Amino acid sequence: MASPLTPPAPGALQIQPLFPVALGQVQLRPDPLDLARQLQVMLALRGEAQSNPDPGCAWTGDLNGVWQLHRHPVFAPLLAQIAGQAQAYLGQLGFDPARVALHIQRCWPVLGEPGQVVGRHHHPNAHLSAIYYLNGDGSGRTGVLRCWPLRQVNELVPGLAVGHGGPLSPTAWTQPWQDVAPRAGLLLLFPACLDHAVLANEDEEELRCSIAIDFALTAAAAAPGDSPPEYLAPHPSQWSAITEDGSLPASPP
Ligand SMILES: [Fe+2]
Repeated sequence: MASPLTPPAPGALQIQPLFPVALGQVQLRPDPLDLARQLQVMLALRGEAQSNPDPGCAWTGDLNGVWQLHRHPVFAPLLAQIAGQAQAYLGQLGFDPARVALHIQRCWPVLGEPGQVVGRHHHPNAHLSAIYYLNGDGSGRTGVLRCWPLRQVNELVPGLAVGHGGPLSPTAWTQPWQDVAPRAGLLLLFPACLDHAVLANEDEEELRCSIAIDFALTAAAAAPGDSPPEYLAPHPSQWSAITEDGSLPASPP
C-alpha cells in the first residue's frame, strides 16, 4: 500500500513529486586489470568497424552480432555483479523476489568515437535496462546520457518546456530532460520504456566505452498446481515453442 501524502504546512504552497521515475545508480569499483581486459575484448569484437554504420553513430554490438557479452568469460563476473544490483533494484521497487524471475536478454558493448552519438530511443523488447560505464570522469565530456520523461505533464501546455522563448523557465518540475555523466564503474538501472540518447563525445582523445543490458521479467517457474501471477509471463522454461511445421512438441509428463 502506497504511503499517503504528507499534509502541507499551513499557508505556503507546497509541491510534491507524485510519480518519480526510478533511476538506479551504483558506483562499482572495477579492478583496473579487469577493466583493461574488458576494453581489449570490446575493441577486438568491434574489429574493423567504426560505426553503426552511419559514421555519426556509435558502434553498438546489438546491431553487429555481439549481443551476448554476458556469456563471455571476461564479462561474466561483471554481469553477475550487475544482475545482483538489478535484483536489489527490483526489491526497492517492491517486487517479491520469490515470485519474479529476472532474465538477461541481451548484453552488448557500445563504443563511441569522438563526435559520435546514439539517437533517442528506448528498448520496447525489454522490461528493465542497465548501462555500465567502463570509462568517463563524471564531467560528461565523452557524451552524457540524456533521459526524457514519458510525458511532460508539468509543462501544462505541451511543448512549452522546450519551446523557443518559453514562457516557461526550467525548474525541477518542468525540466525537459535529465542528463547523467559517464563515470568509470558507474552502473545505471532504469525502466526499459524510458527514452534515452547519448550526446556527442566531445573528447577528441577518448573512446566512450559502455555496456548495455536488457532484462526481462517473468514469473518464477510455477510448481505443479500453481499458476503464475496474472500480469507476468510464465517462466520461459514452461513455454512451448511451436515448430516450423506448426506442430507442438510433446507435453512434458
Ligand atoms: Fe539504449
